[in-house]
Amino acid sequence: MSVSKEQTSRELYLEMLKKSILFEIYIEHEQKYVQFLDPNNALFSPTKENRQRGQDWPPIAHSMIGRERMNNLHQCMNAVINENIEGDFIETGVWRGGSCIFMRGFLKAHGITDRKVWVADSFEGLPAPDPQYPVDAGVTLHEVDFLRVSVEEVIENFRKYDLLDGQVSFLKGWFKDTLPVAPIEKIAIARLDGDMYSSTTDALVNLYHKVSVGGYVIIDDYTVPLCQRAVHDFRNKHNITESIVNIDGFSAFWKKTREIEVNRREEVEVERPTELAQGHNRIYRF
Ligand SMILES: C[S@@+](CC[C@H](N)C(=O)[O-])C[C@H]1O[C@@H](n2cnc3c(N)ncnc32)[C@H](O)[C@@H]1O
Repeated sequence: MSVSKEQTSRELYLEMLKKSILFEIYIEHEQKYVQFLDPNNALFSPTKENRQRGQDWPPIAHSMIGRERMNNLHQCMNAVINENIEGDFIETGVWRGGSCIFMRGFLKAHGITDRKVWVADSFEGLPAPDPQYPVDAGVTLHEVDFLRVSVEEVIENFRKYDLLDGQVSFLKGWFKDTLPVAPIEKIAIARLDGDMYSSTTDALVNLYHKVSVGGYVIIDDYTVPLCQRAVHDFRNKHNITESIVNIDGFSAFWKKTREIEVNRREEVEVERPTELAQGHNRIYRF
C-alpha cells in the first residue's frame, strides 16, 4: 500500500504530539522535579518504563496515561473515523488535559470539523466519598492536591499546542451535575478516567446511551477495584456482554455493539441543575 505525503506528515505530527504530551523526549530531566513534590511518594518515579505503561504521576508531562494507553486512544480514533462511527470524543477526568489535547490534535490532523472534544472535570480534584456509593467509603483521593488542576491551566495547555478553538468545550463541575445536562448528542469515544466508583458510575449512567454503536468506551482505571466494580455493576445491570479488552495490564476498553436502555433518573438520585451555568458548574466554549 502506498503512503501519501500528507499521511506521512500527519502521522509524524501525531507521533510528535504524543512524545510532547507524555514528555518522552526529555523524561530523564523530569526526575529533578520530584524533589519539589514528594520524594517519598513512589508514584513520583518518572522513568521511561513507567511512562510507557502510565505507572507514574508525572511532574511535568501533560498526561499521566502513558504511551500504551495513548496509542490505544489513537487506534480507537482511527477506527471510528475509518468506520464512520458518528459522535464526539469525551474524557471524564482530564487532569492537565493531555489526552483531550491529543484528541483535538487528531481531529485537526485529519481535517475533521464535524466532531468535538469534551473536556469534563471538576478542575478541583476528586470528590469526597458520597454516602450514596458505600463502595467509595474511606477513599482519600479528594485530599490529593496533585490531582487538582484548574480549568485555566488546562485551557492554557490547549493554547500552548495551538489546539484551543470552537471544537473544544470544557465541562466544569462534578460529573453527577455536568454530565446529565451536557449538550452532547452522540459520542464515538468515551474515555473514563475518574478513578472512583462514583465517578465511573456517573459517567457510565449519563453517557453510555449516547455512545454510538461501533463506538468505544475506554476505562483508564479498570484494574482499580473500585472502578472495576462500578464497571461490572453497570454492565451486569444492563446486560452488557461485549468483551473487555486489556490495553496495558491496567486499563481496558470495549466496543459498543448494541443499544441498551439506561434508566438514568432511577440510577442517580441527585438534585441536578437544569443548566450548566448554575453554581460552580460551567461550560467553557471558545
Ligand atoms: C487520574 S486524573 C485523570 C488523568 C488524565 N486522564 C490524563 O490524561 O492524565 C483524574 C481526574 O478526574 C477528576 N475527577 C474524578 N472524579 C471526578 C468527578 N466525580 N467529577 C469531576 N471530576 C472528577 C479529577 O479532578 C482528576 O483531574
